[in-house]
Amino acid sequence: MLVSEALARRRAIRDYDPAFTIGDEELARLFALVKLAPSAMNLQPWEFIVVREAAAKKRLRACAMDQYQIELAAATVIVLGNTDMLAHFEPVYADLLALGGTTPERVEGSRRYVRRFDGDVRYRELWAARNAALAAMTLMLAAQELGLDSGPMDGFYPDKLMAEFGVPANFLPVMLVTLGRRAQEPPYPRQWRRDFGDMVHLDTFGEKKGRD
Ligand SMILES: Cc1cc2nc3c(=O)[nH]c(=O)nc-3n(C[C@H](O)[C@H](O)[C@H](O)COP(=O)(O)O)c2cc1C
Repeated sequence: MLVSEALARRRAIRDYDPAFTIGDEELARLFALVKLAPSAMNLQPWEFIVVREAAAKKRLRACAMDQYQIELAAATVIVLGNTDMLAHFEPVYADLLALGGTTPERVEGSRRYVRRFDGDVRYRELWAARNAALAAMTLMLAAQELGLDSGPMDGFYPDKLMAEFGVPANFLPVMLVTLGRRAQEPPYPRQWRRDFGDMVHLDTFGEKKGRD
């Protein structure tokens, strides 16, 4: 499947076939693609909770404004961003050193760079969300190629979800992504999208609209 085909086919699906299930092998295939997502300094600050069991789906639905698609979907992935920026620093940089991509001095420089954000929770949350959002989009595109439909959701209560699913405090629940097979086409065609001229600025943002 071409990326353009995956993008065209992807819709935010809510009416899933409740009889459709996703097995461990399919999950493994999916996450073998998800892990190819880019991340800042390749630090891969993401983790995923795959909610598949009926009771867990009910608990998640209760954290997500009672959105019914969670129970119809074969699975919902809770995409978490890790605000501990150094969580995977050691193996990532050991690998990069072994590949010849850096030097021990530059590794220490990178570590110092990351440590600058130790006291800046706002930045670390933004960083975690940026990276995890790319993983979520990668998940949706990879799902499409594997014949799975998906739906991104941010309609949930983060604190409730974290308590309910035992998420450690250094993580940020960034997005839910439902997965399954659409039972029918969405009830209306794809909504209007802003066009090139409205959203793309060439070289500079330009002058403020409406300025005298
Ligand atoms: C960050 C984000 C949060 C969203 N949250 C929800 C949600 O909580 N519930 C829902 O039904 N759809 C949610 N959506 C889906 C959007 O409504 C949908 O992507 C948009 O209307 C465009 O439709 P399309 O994806 O089918 O093209 C969300 C999408 C994004 C990207």
